[in-house]
Amino acid sequence: MFSRSAFNTLKQASKGASKRFSSTQAESAKTSTYNALMGISVATAIGSGAGLYYLNQNAAHANMEADGLHPADHPFPQKKLFGTFDHASIRRGFHVFKEVCSACHSLDLVHWRNLVDVAFTEEEVREMAAEFQYTDGPDDTGNMFERPGKLTDPIPPPYANEEAARAANAGALPPDLSLITKARHHGVDYIYSLLTGYCDPPAGVEVREGLNYNPYFPGGAIAMAQNIFDGVVEYEDGTPNTASQIAKDVVTFLNWAAEPELDDRKKIGIKALLLFSTLTAISLWAKRNRWHTMKTRKIVFNSPKNWNKPAPPKN
Ligand code: HEC
Repeated sequence: MFSRSAFNTLKQASKGASKRFSSTQAESAKTSTYNALMGISVATAIGSGAGLYYLNQNAAHANMEADGLHPADHPFPQKKLFGTFDHASIRRGFHVFKEVCSACHSLDLVHWRNLVDVAFTEEEVREMAAEFQYTDGPDDTGNMFERPGKLTDPIPPPYANEEAARAANAGALPPDLSLITKARHHGVDYIYSLLTGYCDPPAGVEVREGLNYNPYFPGGAIAMAQNIFDGVVEYEDGTPNTASQIAKDVVTFLNWAAEPELDDRKKIGIKALLLFSTLTAISLWAKRNRWHTMKTRKIVFNSPKNWNKPAPPKN
């Protein structure tokens, strides 16, 4: 039996060999084409990888004219994996927004009540809201009337409509700031850099009348003038009111306005990680426990003795 199978194998091998010998040239041509193609594709892959890496490492060489200057990475605590907002900063930031930015920008998605227990007590917010007059009604006689603001009112917009806003800002529309940190690339870093980045235009750059040079703004010329300077607001908690501090606080406030759920989201995230990793560990242990009889089982096959001997003759 053995000899026959060995003979067959030999026969097969010699057949294969004769076939190979007869077509050696065609085969080797095919192989070298294949090798060349492989070489080209590997070189292309490595080359494009290196190219992408180079471009990524040299973001500052991106088109500044169209994209604006790349903002630096600032260490805002809420940007860290488990970091949360600095609520004292949100409080100061709202103060800056109210004193400076709210002259031109609306904050449509934030209502007074949203500030309660975030940066202010309920009493403080009621007092702030009551400083503004809101149109309400109609009353029993069908007329609209004015009343002081309450917790359920939105933060009042500076202009009645877009046309009024444009008319007051030389045709440019100050965007609503509710979601601005989400609506711009590099969110907080960009807005911080924009607010503190005003400077004289470099030689050869002409800025149109009514626009201001800011390298972080795409195009370089922005309709908003610089409005954050050292000492532009006074802080009640004695924090130094430098321009960078003021910008940082208002940016923190705007980030909270856009992502009010951030603190809770991260807290729930930590709980979920703890819970699911425990559950994963338990289920892995339970699986081992349940399966150990199967996994540690050894199957032994004892072939019957004399299986290959001819059967004893029947009588
Ligand atoms: C005097 C009015 C005025 C004040 C005050 C003002 N802004 Fe503006 N802001 C504008 C105008 C106008 C634009 C639109 C600029 C443009 O499109 O060229 C703008 C645009 C912006 C933008 C959008 C930039 C972009 O990438 O499109 C941000 C962010 C911004 N302002 C933040 C602020 C903050 C924060 C404050 C308060 C510290 C503030 N602004 C105060 C008028 C103002």
